[in-house]
Amino acid sequence: MAGNDQEGAAAQHWDPQRYNKNAGFVAELGAPLLDLLQLRAGERVLDLGCGEGALTARLVDAGAEVVGVDASPDQIAAARARGLDARVMSGEALTFDGDFDAVLSNAALHWMLKPDAVLQGVARALKPGGRFVAEMGGHGNVGAILDALMVALEARGLDARSANPWYFPTPEAYQSKLEAAGFSVDSIALIPRPTPLPGAIGGWLETFAEAFLKQVPPAERDGLIDAVAERLRPQLCDSEGNWTADYVRLRFAARLAD
Ligand code: BEZ
Repeated sequence: MAGNDQEGAAAQHWDPQRYNKNAGFVAELGAPLLDLLQLRAGERVLDLGCGEGALTARLVDAGAEVVGVDASPDQIAAARARGLDARVMSGEALTFDGDFDAVLSNAALHWMLKPDAVLQGVARALKPGGRFVAEMGGHGNVGAILDALMVALEARGLDARSANPWYFPTPEAYQSKLEAAGFSVDSIALIPRPTPLPGAIGGWLETFAEAFLKQVPPAERDGLIDAVAERLRPQLCDSEGNWTADYVRLRFAARLAD
């Protein structure tokens, strides 16, 4: 998913074709969220950070009335081309008011660097008793990849920390934000999930780490990707050349009072 918001991923351009090639697995791995959602036929659901709409389409197939929102116009165009009700909207400035029985979000919240604004908007979008079910990158997510990016950029005299577009909270930190926004939390947990990639790590970096890559001039980007890949190879690539990303998910189910 590509729920990027201004600060988190202003530097990130979402190309639906590149996304499908390097990140088609994202919607596939979001399937457990559908179980957690316990959808009832006819419910109105908001897919927050819907990207090109693969999981949104599954919700529609399961009988929900679904609106998808994403800050990327390119991803929303791709979602609309599937016939979905998809709208360009920042997750940090949701405009809904008591419209939904549930909000679902997969692999998008970690791009939103104003989590309190997001959670207030989600709470406002829900009807009383509404559910919020989501999965995002959690504390320690892509730790090896982040370290390698930091080392490679710092070796070039650049400040990688300020380029970081991601927010990977602990369960404790996110639970207190959920509660401050009026939710009670039914479950929240960190789930380490090493994730096999469909190609080499370079494709992942180009798809998701543009904010870091943009710190160097275009002519130097391939060299930066090679340096990051070589640092990661012993940890994330097996002897047959298969790459695995060191994902750690934060998955939760929360609800508003009736
Ligand atoms: C994730 O889904 O955890 C993720 C995706 C892209 C960048 C960072 C994290």
